[in-house]
Amino acid sequence: MNIIWHDKTQQFHLYNDEISYIMVVQPNGEMGQLYFGGKIRDKEDFSYLLVRQMKSQVPADAPDETFSMELNRQEYPGFGSTDFGINAYETVYADGSRISNFRYSSHEIIYGKRKLEGLPATYASDDEAMSLIITLVDELTGLNLELSYTIFRDYPVIAKSVRFINKGEATVILNRALSACIDLPDQNYEWMQFSGAWARERFPVTRKIERGMISVESKRGISSSNQNPFVIVKRPNTDEFIGEAIGMSFVYSGNFIAAADADCYGKLRLAMGIHPDTFRWPLDSGDVFTAPEVVIAYSNDGLNGLSQSYHALYNNNLVRGKWKKTPRPILLNNWEATFMDFTQDSILKIASKAKEAGAELFVLDDGWFGARNDDYAGLGDWVENPAKLPGGMKELSEKINAMGLKFGFWIEPEMVNPDSDLYRAHPDWAFAVPGRIPALGRHQYVLDFSRDEVVDYIFDMLYRVIKDANISYIKWDMNRTLTDVYSNGVGPKLQGCVYHKYVLGVYKLYSRFIEAFPNILFESCSSGGSRFDAGLLYYAPQAWCSDNTDGADRVLIQYGTSYGYPISSIGAHVSAIPNQQTDRSVPIDFRANVACFGTFGYELDLNHISDEEFEMVKEQIAFMKENRELFQYGRFYRLISPFETDVNAWMVVSDDKKKAIVGLYSMRANVNSINGRIRLAGLDENNLYYIGSNAFYGDELMKVGLTVNPENTGDFTIEQDYKSCLVSLESK
Ligand code: GLA
Repeated sequence: MNIIWHDKTQQFHLYNDEISYIMVVQPNGEMGQLYFGGKIRDKEDFSYLLVRQMKSQVPADAPDETFSMELNRQEYPGFGSTDFGINAYETVYADGSRISNFRYSSHEIIYGKRKLEGLPATYASDDEAMSLIITLVDELTGLNLELSYTIFRDYPVIAKSVRFINKGEATVILNRALSACIDLPDQNYEWMQFSGAWARERFPVTRKIERGMISVESKRGISSSNQNPFVIVKRPNTDEFIGEAIGMSFVYSGNFIAAADADCYGKLRLAMGIHPDTFRWPLDSGDVFTAPEVVIAYSNDGLNGLSQSYHALYNNNLVRGKWKKTPRPILLNNWEATFMDFTQDSILKIASKAKEAGAELFVLDDGWFGARNDDYAGLGDWVENPAKLPGGMKELSEKINAMGLKFGFWIEPEMVNPDSDLYRAHPDWAFAVPGRIPALGRHQYVLDFSRDEVVDYIFDMLYRVIKDANISYIKWDMNRTLTDVYSNGVGPKLQGCVYHKYVLGVYKLYSRFIEAFPNILFESCSSGGSRFDAGLLYYAPQAWCSDNTDGADRVLIQYGTSYGYPISSIGAHVSAIPNQQTDRSVPIDFRANVACFGTFGYELDLNHISDEEFEMVKEQIAFMKENRELFQYGRFYRLISPFETDVNAWMVVSDDKKKAIVGLYSMRANVNSINGRIRLAGLDENNLYYIGSNAFYGDELMKVGLTVNPENTGDFTIEQDYKSCLVSLESK
């Protein structure tokens, strides 16, 4: 890994063993992009990659009429001068003008990586990464722009972020401040996005890139289940195992835009950042604005290669604290077992059965506080309901601990029901435009987390509950999209900051909790998976993946989620049948075989299943305890897509390649077919792997494939609906 500055040619070359990223100070002083892709040897001069041409209708940067930004590839383009693609930023100056000329001024190369103040970001020690910070200055106004790049030693990844610093006298309005832009020299790519809705999150959608713009976005105040802030462009022939792909992942949890802009000269611009439609940020003299981080990864080993880079980077350099690289506790959550209808006694019965099955953690979900007996009341009143918890959280946690289980509970700190003491006391703490009636979502309003006093108040209330009890885990939920976003805490000039400040408020509250209770495992949730993004993984290392716990649908949801997020982050539970969302009854072994490619747990009352099923649950838990490290931190491969066939196959391989587990799932019976073979991946060609008493070499399993027959895969068949199996491979 290195970052080289070639002073004579004014070029930067960032490289590691896998990738190169080359930039130049262009003739007009702005930063240009020369190359991003597989590693190439360093050279003093790549300026042949700059385009010097005069063309009709192409304005040139005076006085050099052979240079135009439009024909060249930009690092951080604005609009109004000679670039016409999607712009990375927009400034409005005191005189009403919008044009900036950010010219190279200086740079700094450091070992490691600087923190992003108040924002989540990847981190790295001095030997894990190097960073380049380029300062550009708009001389006329004094506005400074800092472009930061980090290259990691071990991953084909560049992390980018941006800072605006107003060193001028007058206020500047930032109407747009995206985090990253990358210009590619051709358009022979397909675009992949991860789209969905509540209960069907992150399904991959692939489209051919043609002239014009493709974009996905969220303006819901959260990253959303509708579009995820992670996109890929890949060559048309790239599949899971071969070919080039570039990913962009936004380390942020609010409104975003991700776009690909294919121009008329064959260039392709990728851009990602905070959505400009809901953003207007005044920068007074001396103010700084920091745009969140985008992590850009490159793969020449197909989509699996790309996903594996994100998985490893996020496990090692994004997730922090005690839970980093730690196998996750097997939990039982009472939500689908009781909803809000429970007493301390009924909870203890469920917990005791969970303990008998081998679970390690009991989680009390919604309904324990205030007047919360249904979802019309109580949100915001974070005080235990004595009718349900007579001795409070303290007594319940002690009773559960006495069984030998750890204990955790559910909160939804960003919300308030109109029917709550909090709302009655502070109606102005909820988002609403004075004089207008705000929209409801699940009978609740959104608290104005852009205001410190609101965040502080919620912290104090919850701190009291947490500190008195012995709490190991918190599920932090967030169950509606933002509307009527108007803060009563600031005047008109700052209303354009509120969406972003809300997200900063969420991060602030997370940080305060983590600081006060560093051992608590946080799981984020937003009506299931509506806020599954890299930003939250910095605070909560796992996220409830979907409210849809149907085994068959979970295959699709978890398959799609795995493109951008590690298995250790995917909250996955076995729930009761018929499933509450789909009414489908998928066998308990299938449900468990899907959930173990995740954090694993149960979301049902184990007192209500048959003895035979209970024995299966005990075995599932014992198996997961033995193998969770491999499932959660092994190298994960997608093998056969359930979006393309009636079968799903995926696998994990240990770092030393001695162990692997393959998951096979028949989603829908293929009548009168033969079971065939599944080609495995990631094994050591020369290792002899045992499946029971059968032995196969790695090359055999990867080239010939795993034969689906009773000896290897038990009674798994693709001739039945919802059949599944896990095949364990071990090389001695
Ligand atoms: C959301 C979550 C569920 C559950 C309920 C409780 O829907 O996604 O898992 O916690 O809220 O109200």
